Amino acid sequence: MRFLTILLAAFLVLPICANAQNEPIVIATDDIALVYSVGDNGRLYQKYFGKKLNNTTDYAQISNMPEAYITHGMEDYFEPALHIVHTDANPSTLLKYVSHAQSVLSDGAKQTVITLADPVYKDEVQLYYVAYPAENIIKTHTIITNKEKKAIKLEKYASSMLHFNCNAYYLTQFDGDWAREVDMAEQKLEFGKKVIDTKLGARANMFVSPFFQVALNEPAQENQGEVLFGTLAWSGNFRFTFEIDQKGMLRVISGINPYASQYTLAKGESFRTPEFIFTLSMNGKGEASRNFHDWARQYQVKEGMGDRMTLLNNWEATYFDFNEEKLIGLIGEARELGVDMFLLDDGWFANKYPRSSDHQGLGDWLETKDKLPNGIGRLTAEAEKQGVKFGLWIEPEMVNPKSELYENHKDWVITLPNRDEYYFRNQLVLDLSNPKVQDYVFGVVDDLMTKYPDIAYFKWDCNSPITNIYSNYLKANQTHLYVDYVRGLYNVLERIKTKYPDLRMMMCSGGGGRTDYEGLKYFAEFWASDNTDPIERLFIQWGYSQIFPTKTICAHVTNWNRNASLKFRVNVAMMGKLGFDLKFADMNQNDIEYCKRSIKDYNRMKPVVLDGDLYRLVSPYSGEHTSSMYVDKTKKHAYVFAFDVFPRFDEQFRNVCLQGLDPATMYAVKEINREDGREGETRVYSGDYLMKVGLQLFTTGKLSSRVYEVIAQ
Ligand code: DGJ
Repeated sequence: MRFLTILLAAFLVLPICANAQNEPIVIATDDIALVYSVGDNGRLYQKYFGKKLNNTTDYAQISNMPEAYITHGMEDYFEPALHIVHTDANPSTLLKYVSHAQSVLSDGAKQTVITLADPVYKDEVQLYYVAYPAENIIKTHTIITNKEKKAIKLEKYASSMLHFNCNAYYLTQFDGDWAREVDMAEQKLEFGKKVIDTKLGARANMFVSPFFQVALNEPAQENQGEVLFGTLAWSGNFRFTFEIDQKGMLRVISGINPYASQYTLAKGESFRTPEFIFTLSMNGKGEASRNFHDWARQYQVKEGMGDRMTLLNNWEATYFDFNEEKLIGLIGEARELGVDMFLLDDGWFANKYPRSSDHQGLGDWLETKDKLPNGIGRLTAEAEKQGVKFGLWIEPEMVNPKSELYENHKDWVITLPNRDEYYFRNQLVLDLSNPKVQDYVFGVVDDLMTKYPDIAYFKWDCNSPITNIYSNYLKANQTHLYVDYVRGLYNVLERIKTKYPDLRMMMCSGGGGRTDYEGLKYFAEFWASDNTDPIERLFIQWGYSQIFPTKTICAHVTNWNRNASLKFRVNVAMMGKLGFDLKFADMNQNDIEYCKRSIKDYNRMKPVVLDGDLYRLVSPYSGEHTSSMYVDKTKKHAYVFAFDVFPRFDEQFRNVCLQGLDPATMYAVKEINREDGREGETRVYSGDYLMKVGLQLFTTGKLSSRVYEVIAQ
């Protein structure tokens, strides 16, 4: 029935409504509503954003807030969303309501398109909103169309502008650097502007990630408080502006960072901004995260509802120092461990300048003959023989100056005329604004897949920001480069997805330097950080879990921080998409047996951990211990993870209350995944007890961890 309704609605798009003056335009999900209204002057105002009202007619009684999409040059004194310089150099734009249309999309989401236009210059602005009812997620983007006789210039072109009128605002940002990604820090916003942006071009999130949280009125808690989560689906420069005006109102402007990115729009051309995706929770951060996780799995992430492969990666096991024999040995270890795939990392390619370190070879995607005399084919054949899949590392957007690609196609490289080149990780970025370069990058994957159709997975790395910013291809339009680079990348990824729909890829960028929801349309998962110290990972994974579902967060067991037991390291990685960067030579037989059992345990846990609801119980930021749990959608099965990180002498423990269970159900609780291979004693409790009284989850054992299985009786 639901399917039929959706099908009918998809074809019968509701007619465009001419807006009766002041009649609210309601963009609603099951719990929240964003409401606009046309003023007597014909301009569009935000009326409301908050908990959905029972009666739509009640919205009409609310006074208008500021204009929905504020333009430069009119009466407003704060940061605008749009700044156009018209053909006659007039820098102001007046937007008046033209029409709006509401329809149900084929996936069941509700779309609203509001069309505005400048009555004098005729340029058109369309505000798109797509609301996902059950998940309480709204996606928004803007399309700006030049209706003038000549080119216009876009100085600012936000994806979204939202207004809030609250007593106080608390912003959480996710900043960091290589190996310390998504560090969460909360601050109270005061009058004026706080800007979070990036100018890195590629590896765009190296210093800060494209998502934020704003708690309204009071700092947000995990399970209480009103909080906005927002993220920009864009793998390039982004900018979030939070500005509080003289009346204490907050505006949040999200979009591409317009820095050095003035965009010229030819007559008749349109500019489509990336999507800004957001949710508003009245019950704290936990609910907002679950909204995002549910939405992302169902509607956004490549293979969002699909399974994930465990893997053995050779990067930390060998770095660049390997040959065919070593790799075949590791493929055997992958089979023995019981993982699904072996992933060959950096160092397998280039001959004139063999990739023996990160100083050379990038761009020359043919196997190094000395290392792999029988090519990748010998390895895929071995993997097939051993019953594991084969994955391969590539970094196709980049080039080492010491490479044949650079020698033959210097015009494809982003590099400034009349300046010395400077390098980040000894490399440069290819000019993806150039369609020929797009063909080349697509060809890297296409050639490998044609030669070796058994490749099941690529780890797509991107280790450098855009340096030496200048495009040989764009010539006079240099300020288009940051934007067109990302668009070029998406063209390539779209071609790959179309030609190889089943090919899985990991998004990687020197760790977590590229982690956004547009990228995740093409990549099933991302490498969260090169830092695999399990203590650090507890923080990093906690940070990413705010916005991304568990199945997208790759977490590997490595030798970082051997003060932590292997069990501690494995348990941390089990709270993500599990992989290993280890070799048997670094492990004793007990370790190997423990890993084998853990992979079996993880395979059993996957449906709950990857597709269930995440409840973050105790934050690692709160100090000595941390705990999270995962509950399947039927509430019949759950796993609880508990970690003692820095226990104190004679510490007194309080019970931790579980969450997300059914109070009326009886649950059997037992510890699993113990080092001794035995299971803990089973005890039975009601869901009510577990959620009100809780369990003693923590101990004084430094760097110790436990996993509990909770099963409905
Ligand atoms: C950076 C990645 O984050 C690492 O996992 C590894 O693939 C190296 N690049 C290889 O150069």
